[in-house]
Amino acid sequence: MIICKSAAEIEKLRRSGKLVREVLEETRERVRPGVTTLDLESFVERRLAQSGARPAFKGYRGYPCCLCASVNDQIVHGIPSDLRLNEGDIISLDLGVIIDGYYGDAAVTVPVGEISEPLQRLLRVTEESLHLAIDQVRLGNRLGDISSVVEEHVVSNGFSVVREFVGHGIGRQLHEEPQIPNFGLPGYGPVLKEGMVFAIEPMVNVGGSAMRILDDHWTAVTADGTCSAHFEHMVAVTRNGPDVLTRL
Ligand code: MF3
Ligand code: CO
Repeated sequence: MIICKSAAEIEKLRRSGKLVREVLEETRERVRPGVTTLDLESFVERRLAQSGARPAFKGYRGYPCCLCASVNDQIVHGIPSDLRLNEGDIISLDLGVIIDGYYGDAAVTVPVGEISEPLQRLLRVTEESLHLAIDQVRLGNRLGDISSVVEEHVVSNGFSVVREFVGHGIGRQLHEEPQIPNFGLPGYGPVLKEGMVFAIEPMVNVGGSAMRILDDHWTAVTADGTCSAHFEHMVAVTRNGPDVLTRL
């Protein structure tokens, strides 16, 4: 069942979403060559403690950190470590929080210093696919309309979408129904209703869509070693069109 949220609940989700975006922005300012992903985790941990919000990922199915920090060929769920960022890398920062029982979840992929033109294009196309998806979050549309525009934009630009991980409903749980794949057919799936809230998160690879999980049981990497990008926003279905809750 897809849970529809009241206007008051959407305001609570906006509060969580806004904090996630603020902390992601502050974290991105700390991304530069020489910094380790654990440095970024330490910052996030302190920042959340000050804010009074709880980290949503730490302890979730045993995940050990507040932040997922996924570098280059890491698709998602990179565990912060002593891995040092280098000029030309890309890093996905994915963060979840809980305030007053309501979850916030968002992600952004950022360059480390100067990056190559192909990687700039990867980031641009992935973020564009998210914005095209957000534009489909309209009353009466179907879930497949969201999924299909992501796949179409990514594939027509010569990249591929990851199929093993999906976006999700979000509210009093981090992962609620429905699952939101980054591939699918327009006109299929559940009809979008007022008060539904989605975390939409395209994961896009330069090369093939195949992936594997590292021995840490978390880090997803591309099978062919090519780079991967990831952007995520929370979006509510309203009578006035898409309402992005993870915006400043
Ligand atoms: N944004 C991701 C998701 O929605 C992050 C989950 S990380 C985990 O699934 F540690 F919480 F699993
Ligand atoms: Co998510």
